[in-house]
Amino acid sequence: NHLVSNCKFYCQKSSSKVRICQVLSSQEFGKNVQIQGWVRSVRSQKEILFLHVNDGSTLQSLQVVANAELYKRCLTFGSAVKISGTLEKSPHKKQLVELQADSIQVIGDCNPVDYPFKIKERHSLEYIRQFPHLRCRTKTFGSLLRIRSEASTAIQSFFKDNGFVQIHTPVITSNDCEGAGELFQIEPAGREQGPSEDEPHFFSVPAFLTVSGQLHLEVMTGAFPCVYTFGPTFRAENSQSRRHLAEFYMVEAEIAFTHSLEDITTVMEDLFKTATECILSRCSEDVELYHKYVAPGHMDRLNHMLKNKFKVISYTEAVDVLKHSQQNFAFRPEWGCDLQTEHEKYLVQHCGNIPLFVINYPYNLKPFYARNNEDKPQHTAAAVDLLVPGIGELCGGSLREERLELLKSRLEKTGLKDTYQWYLELRQFGSVPHGGFGMGFERYLQCILGVDNIKDVIPFPRFSHSCVL
Ligand code: 4AD
Repeated sequence: NHLVSNCKFYCQKSSSKVRICQVLSSQEFGKNVQIQGWVRSVRSQKEILFLHVNDGSTLQSLQVVANAELYKRCLTFGSAVKISGTLEKSPHKKQLVELQADSIQVIGDCNPVDYPFKIKERHSLEYIRQFPHLRCRTKTFGSLLRIRSEASTAIQSFFKDNGFVQIHTPVITSNDCEGAGELFQIEPAGREQGPSEDEPHFFSVPAFLTVSGQLHLEVMTGAFPCVYTFGPTFRAENSQSRRHLAEFYMVEAEIAFTHSLEDITTVMEDLFKTATECILSRCSEDVELYHKYVAPGHMDRLNHMLKNKFKVISYTEAVDVLKHSQQNFAFRPEWGCDLQTEHEKYLVQHCGNIPLFVINYPYNLKPFYARNNEDKPQHTAAAVDLLVPGIGELCGGSLREERLELLKSRLEKTGLKDTYQWYLELRQFGSVPHGGFGMGFERYLQCILGVDNIKDVIPFPRFSHSCVL
């Protein structure tokens, strides 16, 4: 268990206080220890009380054996307890150790009648979603949170190991990187009516929550070969879909000195595979629980993705495939139109359920920064989306337009030239060809765990008409 081998536990100041993940693999029978956690099950057999206690450090619970007469009435499912006792070799095959309790203190009791989770019941993700303030107490969501934490570390380690410098890009910004108009504008509370002469914008200019840290990362490619950022991102999408949130986490990377889209797709594929392997080895029990109860058979699908080289198809070929398919799409595929989720899912299936890079999108579909391929008869940009089974788009990226004149003329056409004067300047002082991508962290978790709804992989989901807590 990596938690045991890698961690210094702060509660160890008193040597007898331990985490359950440490105890479960311990062979120190006879040792006196103290644990703190929550009761997962209670069963009494004559004078003996058997408890399972979990403290969030691992999926498994520790069996505690106690005097039924003393503790039967005060210990209920969900209550918080502090238990001191002696570690004993367990007579049961499935567990190495159990705790013979000397004293049990109830720190916080739990009324089983009102508590929304019932002992020994496996509640669905939809059910526990109704209790955002309590769902971390369920076994399933506890696993998700440990996996999410480990996934975040695995991603950061990938970038560190590959020489990327982490940049803390701002949450508050004056630009609309994607130009899609899905911005949340911010003003101090009470100024919702907008600026007036007496009360101008707080920042003097309209300011927004970031939709992407890309432009700030691009600034950094003027001084660093590889940079990344990983943080909350906001989009005012009026969508109730299973893959959109108003607040999500995005991993973004930017690579300098490259003219090749393949350099970008190589990093995307390596990031996906390396981080996933790391999570599978560090959180195997938690991932297994997900694959068993939430997405049966998903481990095979995931292994299939990890074993195979990701495929590549051009947007033009993809539209051809869609047009020649026998599918009854709600949206008719047409060159020049965005691929819909139904198209993306079909394309991945068509390519054997291996993640698929779709490259060279119509120039007019992509934001001002995408590099012009200057091709004919169809005019495309050096942009790429990574599509994955069951979800569709996981990553979006491109080479960035580094040629000053082309960039100027595009910004002029879109009326953005004045706003992006500073961006044009980047191309004037030691500019280098560069490109990058962004990966939605929640969609990544959905993909590796086989979770259907994005709201089930983030602690506190925010989406239109919902900002609970
Ligand atoms: O494709 P997108 O819009 O790309 C960008 O923002 C680029 N500026 C990134 C870059 O090149 N640095 O978003 C990237 C990814 C999507 O592929 C998707 O996985 C995720 O971010 N994403 C969302 N995830 C959840 N909810 C939403 N509303 C999302 N919008 C995008």
